[in-house]
Amino acid sequence: MILNSENNGFFFSKKKYFIESNGTVTKKSHSNIALIKYWGKHTKEIQIPLNSSISYSLEQVYTVTRLIYYMKKKKSKNFSLKIFLSGEKKNIFLQKIRNFFHRIAYYCSYLQDYNFIIETHNTFPHSCGIASSASSISALSLCIMEIEKKLGSFLTKEFFFKKASFLSRLGSGSACRSIYSGLVVWGYHKYIKGSSNLYSIRYPYQVHPIFTKMLDTILIVDEKPKKILSSKGHQLMNRHPYAKERFKYANQNMNRMISILKTGDLPEFGKLVEYESLTLHAMMMTSNPYYLCMKPNTLSVIHTLWDFRIESKKNIYFSLDAGANVHLLYPIQEKTSISKWINSDLLSYCKQIITSFCIY
Ligand code: DP6
Repeated sequence: MILNSENNGFFFSKKKYFIESNGTVTKKSHSNIALIKYWGKHTKEIQIPLNSSISYSLEQVYTVTRLIYYMKKKKSKNFSLKIFLSGEKKNIFLQKIRNFFHRIAYYCSYLQDYNFIIETHNTFPHSCGIASSASSISALSLCIMEIEKKLGSFLTKEFFFKKASFLSRLGSGSACRSIYSGLVVWGYHKYIKGSSNLYSIRYPYQVHPIFTKMLDTILIVDEKPKKILSSKGHQLMNRHPYAKERFKYANQNMNRMISILKTGDLPEFGKLVEYESLTLHAMMMTSNPYYLCMKPNTLSVIHTLWDFRIESKKNIYFSLDAGANVHLLYPIQEKTSISKWINSDLLSYCKQIITSFCIY
């Protein structure tokens, strides 16, 4: 595996910290939608992707997290955490966050000095089917880095975000892309300068103006939590008969994306984003055991969109994450006519609609 000059040790701080008895930090982080998807990770290393991915961060879909820390009476390796979502105590997230803290404790030794209360709010309704782990894990990682800064560690702005992304990755892969706004890349790719498997970077190349003003309308087709978690789906890629080809094509698709982002070829962009989404779902359907995340209404939305595109010649394309909900991507100039069409032709297929700018 090729990595940048940095390795895990780069993020380990040997410095002695000040001791602050208590404090509060607050951070905000956006969710993201991948254009080239991350699906599959190394088995022998923690959270290392098998192909590079690129996403847009979503302006209106975010999490705000307040992290309250107070000194433990006696230092111990256990983490005492309390978690509140929109003011309600949520014990169901405790195990996941505790695992995350254990995973990052080696890089953030000061965490073991404190007890924590995590208060978090999403701009999108809880359990509406939008994965909140990207925005919530990244907001929490930013809070942890803010503590590291407050405890006297001198951090450059660049290192602050790099380590926040590194920590987020250890919590959830796609979360590491949420540290930055705009187009963000995670995973080494030979044609993307500075790309790394350890953390994300802002997309470093020229982007045609058409891609700087895109909208994403998320159609919530299914509000229920996913039956198969992404972590399980990634695992199934390990002995997937088509995995090798998928990783090869994902890398080639990234080459195409680099060229499309430069030339501004919107129809090619749309074709590629839709192809990536359907490939992701094809991987799920051909896993062993196989499974299916799309619902009848997911397909109704896709077919209605394809018919509309032929009739109207509008540039509107879909993307899917690992669930049933549909993201519609289109340039801001088309907003009025597309909202009208969504309201007249798609409302009956979905429970809720959220529109957001794709941050650039
Ligand atoms: C389909 O980041 O949720 O959204 O690393 O196991 O937490 P873990 O997986 P996760 O996988 C998300 C995959 C995806 C595609 C993408 O966002 O790139």
